[in-house]
Amino acid sequence: MVKPDGVQRGLVGEVISRIEKRGLKIVALRMNVIAEATAKEHYGEHAARPFFPSLIEFITSGPSVSMVVAGKDAIKVMRAINGATNPVDAAPGTIRGDFALDVGRNVVHASDSPEAAAREIAIHFKDSEIGKYSRVDEVCLYE
Ligand code: GTP
Ligand code: MG
Repeated sequence: MVKPDGVQRGLVGEVISRIEKRGLKIVALRMNVIAEATAKEHYGEHAARPFFPSLIEFITSGPSVSMVVAGKDAIKVMRAINGATNPVDAAPGTIRGDFALDVGRNVVHASDSPEAAAREIAIHFKDSEIGKYSRVDEVCLYE
């Protein structure tokens, strides 16, 4: 997900480009303002944390771009592309390490486990919205 700060800073293309260039396949994509109830469900694991109210307020404050990304070790690779949660700790070359400074404005989100990915995909997309196609470079990307 490109969060509202990423959208407002014109980083949607940059984020998508990094995902595509890495070889991962975008199989669903939408821009929308996430509803408060959806945001609370999405970030339910953080409901008791002190930053939860500001996180929900921010994530619903403007359009986000949500995507489903597929490919070898897609979850692990997406977390690595995004970088550490706190941009101060994020390595240069990662999205957060290149474009962010504040943990509350860290540009992107990615699911942190297969279980979380399944849960979050179901929150944001219907099955019928997830496309099936091959990238023509898959023959070169994979052994
Ligand atoms: P997401 O991909 O957004 O889920 O980030 P993450 O998995 O790297 O981090 P985590 O799930 O632990 O936290 C979710 C989001 O809450 C982060 O991306 C931050 O935007 C925000 N967050 C996490 N920790 C803090 C904190 O200590 N302070 C504030 N203000 N925000 C935080
Ligand atoms: Mg998280």
